[in-house]
Amino acid sequence: PDEREENETEKGLRVSDKGFLNTAVLRSEITFIDGDAGILRYRGYPIEQLALHSSHLETAYLLLYGSLPTKSQFKVFETEVLHHGVTHADAEQFCRSFRYDAHPMAILTSAFAYLGSYYGEANPSLQGQNLYTRGNAASLEIMDKQIYRLIGKATTLAAMAYRVRQGREFVTPPTGFSYTGSFLYQMDHLGEENYTPNPVLEKALDVLFLLHADHEMNASSTTVLQTGSSLVDPYSAIAAGCASLYGPLHGGANEAVIRMLISIGKPENVPAFLEAVKKREKVLSGFGHRVYKTSDPRSFIVRKTADEVFKITGKDELLETAMALHAAAMKDEYFIKRKLAPNVDFCSGLIYRAMGFPLDFFPVLFAVPRVVGWLAHWRQMMLQEGGVKIWRPRQIYVGAGKRDYVPIDERV
Ligand code: ACO
Repeated sequence: PDEREENETEKGLRVSDKGFLNTAVLRSEITFIDGDAGILRYRGYPIEQLALHSSHLETAYLLLYGSLPTKSQFKVFETEVLHHGVTHADAEQFCRSFRYDAHPMAILTSAFAYLGSYYGEANPSLQGQNLYTRGNAASLEIMDKQIYRLIGKATTLAAMAYRVRQGREFVTPPTGFSYTGSFLYQMDHLGEENYTPNPVLEKALDVLFLLHADHEMNASSTTVLQTGSSLVDPYSAIAAGCASLYGPLHGGANEAVIRMLISIGKPENVPAFLEAVKKREKVLSGFGHRVYKTSDPRSFIVRKTADEVFKITGKDELLETAMALHAAAMKDEYFIKRKLAPNVDFCSGLIYRAMGFPLDFFPVLFAVPRVVGWLAHWRQMMLQEGGVKIWRPRQIYVGAGKRDYVPIDERV
């Protein structure tokens, strides 16, 4: 058919790359991954050094603006982010409108989009063009404010998504807490009197936040950029990213790992489970990665963090099954041949479970810190030299050639 011919003869290079295995969609200065060597760096800094010495919010500044902040830069950033954690009563009302059994990711995704209805400068029809210009202080100020709002409100909206399902009143973000401490305080997920977060658990969650803050062109970050390339407001773009993260092949994997471990039950059931995986009857969640062909460097830090957490909470009963599964898979020719190793989600779910979070809240604990990475990529794109080009990929048409319409009575 003509259409196929056009695909083959059109000027320029058009490649078919299912799942974007080889397609680089941009040049980026934010995150570097060497998947064969197991290296991850944010703005040049190894993830191991940041996890040891930095905090999630300091790393957020680094990812967004390109360098580690000075003391005064950090003070301003932290104050602004925490200040913007407070939401309007209308947003609370919106979050209250969900059913008690709504998935918290559905609430969070909707709440991000809701923010776009709230802030006048977010209305795309008011823009008509890219609102942000390099070197234009006024436009950068608007952008910064949008960034503070989204990072600040992410924890508040997530805490609301948590509490609404328990029929509990919302808690105003407290003062005098760290970003992660404020999040834990607002959830008060153990329902204790005069709750203050345990410092070891607060630090552990902060390290997990930092590890999840960015991972270059993953499905959700790409979704944010694809959506943002139409010059829609960042609240809508972040909502789109959040929706993408929800899936079990991406941010939903930490929840899927625990469901898998529960279904396996005891360590002695591991061999039968792996046989089912090899027959493609089951999926080994928390293993495999598009980029890493060796262990995900974040997984080692998560395992160390898990040891700290278990000292406080006690060991999770699924830990032995997880370790047996890990050991057996790493020795099995099927997984070795396909270079399948644990990713960050294999252990993070065990930590969240030990800390007492419900299973379906795990993807939210991934989405909250990833807001930082989404915004860093969005900011870079909006301010790039030469402006934004709408992301509009091509396809290879393989459908029918031209056909004439047949009235319904004449169809057989
Ligand atoms: N269990 C069993 N086999 C697997 C797994 C797995 N978890 N992952 C990949 N494979 C197999 C595939 O079946 C394929 O085998 P084949 O060549 O015989 O057909 C081979 O390994 C290559 O895998 P692909 O599916 O081509 O890898 P892709 O890059 O498309 O997928 C993904 C990556 C989605 C992460 C995949 O490994 C997976 O589904 N893992 C489980 C879900 C998960 O843990 N997701 C979290 C990802 S990390 C994150 O979002 C933070």
